[in-house]
Amino acid sequence: MPARHRSVLLHESIEALNLGNGKIFIDATYGGGGHSSEIKRQNGKIKIITIDQDPETGADITGNFRDLDTLLGDIRPDAILLDLGFSSIQIEGGVEGLSFQRDEALDMRLSRKGPTAADILNSWDESAIELILRGFGEERFSKKIAREIAERRKIKPFETTSELVDAVLAAKPRHFRDRIHPATKTFQAFRIAVNSELDALEEGLQKGFEILNPSGRFAVISFHSLEDRIVKNFFRDKARAGLAKLITKKPITPSDEEVKENPRSRSAKLRIIEKHEKTNEYK
Ligand SMILES: C[S@@+](CC[C@H](N)C(=O)[O-])C[C@H]1O[C@@H](n2cnc3c(N)ncnc32)[C@H](O)[C@@H]1O
Repeated sequence: MPARHRSVLLHESIEALNLGNGKIFIDATYGGGGHSSEIKRQNGKIKIITIDQDPETGADITGNFRDLDTLLGDIRPDAILLDLGFSSIQIEGGVEGLSFQRDEALDMRLSRKGPTAADILNSWDESAIELILRGFGEERFSKKIAREIAERRKIKPFETTSELVDAVLAAKPRHFRDRIHPATKTFQAFRIAVNSELDALEEGLQKGFEILNPSGRFAVISFHSLEDRIVKNFFRDKARAGLAKLITKKPITPSDEEVKENPRSRSAKLRIIEKHEKTNEYK
């Protein structure tokens, strides 16, 4: 059966977007289309524009939300949603290399463009790989794993996910292994690096906020602490500068029921901001 994506915090995020007849909504992470189709089902009079960097999703616009301003031209949205990361469709085979549970090519490119994970693994300096592992994976054994990668690629360049898993297992002391799979953090780190996820998020927040209509809402669902920190700080700075109001002081998280039904939702955090009616940004 083809993979389906189960939308996370579906009703909470839709309610937070405060949409109504004639409003323009930008779904900048279309994925499996779950959020957009539910919004359409609830109210056919909302104008929905969908964007995704993955050309296979069937979004209206293929592009990165870091270019939100140029992708949208003169359009001024009343609400924007970023539901970050990857969809089940992508991890369950749509994009090779995202899962350490399947032996596949080390690709990891959600946009299907640019250098692959294998390109990075085989060509970046050992110290740069260590930085990726530490910065994007918060991996305690970043130095050891980077060393192991550098040694192994001299003998044979990395091509598959199982080769990367083997390198991590060889580098990580057995008694230090946590409850999560030993390669989880390494795979997260390379995925973030391949897709420049944190830079894209910073730019997407900035551009999205600039083009948002006064009283417009910006909602972001993040899945790990690095993303959430960026969103939290960005929203807090806008509120402190008097440009927006925080709709969520604390992030909204999934109910126990949702986590039970969809374990992938367990780390999700939803934050929302509302742009002030009159901001002095364009003075
Ligand atoms: C979690 S899924 C979204 C699921 C969707 N809300 C749903 O309910 O079906 C994340 C999607 O965002 C896309 N994406 C991630 N980062 C992006 C970026 N910087 N620009 C555009 N799309 C991005 C991914 O390709 C993926 O399809």
